Amino acid sequence: MEKFVTFEGIDGCGKSTISKLLYKKLLNEGIDAVLTFEPTNTEIGKFVKKCIKTNSDPYLTSFSFITDRILHCKKISKWLVDGKIVICDRYAESTYAYQGAQLENEIKNPIKWLKEMSKNQIIIPDRTYLFLISPEKSLERIQKRKELIPFEKKAFLQKVHKNYLKISNGKRFLKLDATKKIDDLVKICYNDIHYLG
Ligand code: TYD
Repeated sequence: MEKFVTFEGIDGCGKSTISKLLYKKLLNEGIDAVLTFEPTNTEIGKFVKKCIKTNSDPYLTSFSFITDRILHCKKISKWLVDGKIVICDRYAESTYAYQGAQLENEIKNPIKWLKEMSKNQIIIPDRTYLFLISPEKSLERIQKRKELIPFEKKAFLQKVHKNYLKISNGKRFLKLDATKKIDDLVKICYNDIHYLG
């Protein structure tokens, strides 16, 4: 039953919590699943995290995220060959939305440019769940729980939010209201995965 599903949304939308719960639910049902994430916990993934924390150059950040993803895809493709359901917390749309916002004043059409860069090197997910929440509400949620990184500012998250809406019109996307109850959101994703076949 190999399937590749990704979880997307701005910081504080709840995607990490929901993807974890979905993963556990699938395992409880005896379904072979893997939960993975980006940035990864490899050396390049750690470098990317440093780029974010220090608000590094947007080109360096973009190339690093994409390299991290291309390498990650080698693992994902093995899991898929083994028949697993692969759940990935953040994937390509994070780059289009976040680095698209970072590069807004640098190049003419940053999203198109970012998409071109890894077009033939990455796997297209069967489904992408996009958790929608206003930047105001998401900031309210994350301010309570941790020290904020430079991306977690209202004006920036507003740009990211707009980019997510811009890139999510295809059939692959399922947009979800991130203010709904967590259990309900997990159920929607769980049922949807079965519907995918
Ligand atoms: P994440 O690990 O999801 O952060 P947290 O668990 O603290 O919510 O992601 C860290 C940050 O990296 C997040 O602000 C989004 C950003 N990011 C990008 O800018 N581009 C990308 O391609 C990815 C995968 C993440």
